[in-house]
Amino acid sequence: MVQKSEEVSGKLAEVESWRVQEATEISFLGLDWILLPDVYPVQRSSASLFAWEVLQELEPMDNFLEIGIGPGNNVVMAAKSGLCRRATGTDINPNAVESARLNAERHGVADSLNLLVSDVFDSVDEEKFDLVFWNSPPVLEVNETVDLSNHERSFFDPGYEAHIRYFTQARRYLAESGRLMIGFCSRGNYELLTRTAAEAGFASEVIAKRPAGHEHWLVEFTELVSPA
Ligand SMILES: C[S@@+](CC[C@H](N)C(=O)[O-])C[C@H]1O[C@@H](n2cnc3c(N)ncnc32)[C@H](O)[C@@H]1O
Repeated sequence: MVQKSEEVSGKLAEVESWRVQEATEISFLGLDWILLPDVYPVQRSSASLFAWEVLQELEPMDNFLEIGIGPGNNVVMAAKSGLCRRATGTDINPNAVESARLNAERHGVADSLNLLVSDVFDSVDEEKFDLVFWNSPPVLEVNETVDLSNHERSFFDPGYEAHIRYFTQARRYLAESGRLMIGFCSRGNYELLTRTAAEAGFASEVIAKRPAGHEHWLVEFTELVSPA
């Protein structure tokens, strides 16, 4: 177990107050959802609200891949609203995937969804998607190797290690005109995010923005064109 610095311990204590401790029924986006313990509490999150606000404005698509589905709010809404015909959703937290499965059944879209416990893309079959999206954990703890709980992983990605794999592996899953995006916010390190994307060959552009206490951004990543 690695010793945590005071600053990191303070940040971890801050998110502990958000932890879902037992199976909980919530209302979000006008529907009822179940959250199993340690699943991201979307009903408290302006980032979750922002994510669906901006995703629902995109062109309808065939195949959607969401990394880090939490209780399945985005994939369920996408299938239910007709934004996508089918979707694959992953989460590193097994309770998130089980919550998403229960919520998909509850909302009648289980047949359109493929839900997987997966560290970023690790368990995703090589399939092509029109949109690859992650409402990602934005908080960075540089030079800290912290043993994070499943709950804490919704907020923290030390060294942006999982983001690096998101960028370096995404191409394999993108359809020819597929789009690659991240939901991010001003609590993260945007400069490092764009640098990480650039190192994997992607240019970053904020395509939607909302102030909500702190700022939320929908960031799109496109192939960096090297000079001729
Ligand atoms: C901010 S929450 C987003 C939840 C939901 N998709 C939403 O938009 O409301 C981030 C999610 O990413 C998941 N996550 C964190 N690290 C991950 C990883 N390495 N692979 C897959 N999922 C991960 C967390 O478990 C959490 O459910």
